[in-house]
Amino acid sequence: MTVLGKRPYQPQPTTKGRISVHPEGDHIIDQHGRLFDYVRIAVNERCNLRCIYCLPEEGIDFLPSEQLLTSQEIIRIVHILAQLQVTKVRFTGGEPLLRKDMAHLVSQASITPGIESVHITTNGLLLSEYANDLYKAGLHGINISLDTMDRQKFLKITRSDCLDKVLEGLNLALSLPFPSVKVNVVVMRDFNHEEIGDFVELTRDNRLTVRFIELMPFDAHQIWKTGKFFGAEKILEYLSGLYPHMDEEEGSVTEEHVYRIPGHEGKFAVIPSFTRSLCEGCNRIRLTADGKIRNCLYSDNEFDVKKLARQGDSHEKIADLFKRAMWTKLKDGWEAQHRGNHLRESMTQIGG
Ligand code: GTP
Ligand code: 5AD
Ligand code: SF4
Repeated sequence: MTVLGKRPYQPQPTTKGRISVHPEGDHIIDQHGRLFDYVRIAVNERCNLRCIYCLPEEGIDFLPSEQLLTSQEIIRIVHILAQLQVTKVRFTGGEPLLRKDMAHLVSQASITPGIESVHITTNGLLLSEYANDLYKAGLHGINISLDTMDRQKFLKITRSDCLDKVLEGLNLALSLPFPSVKVNVVVMRDFNHEEIGDFVELTRDNRLTVRFIELMPFDAHQIWKTGKFFGAEKILEYLSGLYPHMDEEEGSVTEEHVYRIPGHEGKFAVIPSFTRSLCEGCNRIRLTADGKIRNCLYSDNEFDVKKLARQGDSHEKIADLFKRAMWTKLKDGWEAQHRGNHLRESMTQIGG
């Protein structure tokens, strides 16, 4: 099935293998020899969808806006991180496009010296409204969460009947010359795993990357425990059953298995987000919507950067907190999870 139009070729950037330490520069490293050059900043917790694996229908106790980082605070932090050799910024949420200052944040981040690319991860619902502004603001990449292309399943997974709006946003994103457009598909057994082939079909005429993502246990209701997990091995098995010929390709740090069907415009990949075989190459710093540094998606040890920013601390103090937070990062997401006491209530609080 092809639901999208064709778009001209644009090379897609990759971070893998690009890590290099500037000999004179200050940088963020850990005790396991990893360098962190990518920051994921959650800009809010709210969302206009209620995906079953992420939020309960009634939502959670979202933070009042004064507890979120302001745009000035976010831009200041981006500047500080750029001086520490961070080159890639991703804005996440919640749904980042619910924030009215999103295009402003993108433009400020993209003109920051040292920042090479600015990205957004969105559910796509408001994309048809904002894609043009985001492009003009200098956005490099858009990752759109889309778990199904079937209207009834979309309603079941997101609890909203707005698949067409998301497809409209995706189409618009593909028609603009963004260097990178990706579709994130969280694969769930018997919910959407039979659609894997339909998503690969999207790569036939569209220069995008479809990523099949393992379900993770970050939701208060733990739907994760209800047998829907469909791991990377299973996804790969399913893919090779459908496609005997897949060419291997390069991808980003989270994309562990990347392929292209010969002759297809786009690529597809598997993200082993739960099995965590990707941790050795981890290059990311996380900032939660309430201004806490997390050195791993699975860690509950948080470092309060908002507090420093609000009490008027210097750039150096904030830089030191980032360096300290990341220096203490554990070997992988398994160790981080075992060391912790609780996972947050929803992925919206961490930023994915
Ligand atoms: P690219 O920069 O395009 O590679 O995107 P990304 O994979 O870094 O970001 P995105 O926000 O699109 O996340 C896609 C999926 O990967 C989400 O389900 C994330 O939660 C998961 N993910 C992102 N970063 C990590 C990570 O460091 N560890 C694990 N385990 N999962 C991650
Ligand atoms: N498991 C896997 N992926 C998740 N995401 C949100 N919650 C989960 C979860 N429990 C994904 C979204 C989005 C990205 C930021 O994180 O689908 O693509
Ligand atoms: Fe990095 Fe933690 Fe994700 Fe592993 S689970 S890739 S260590 S953030």
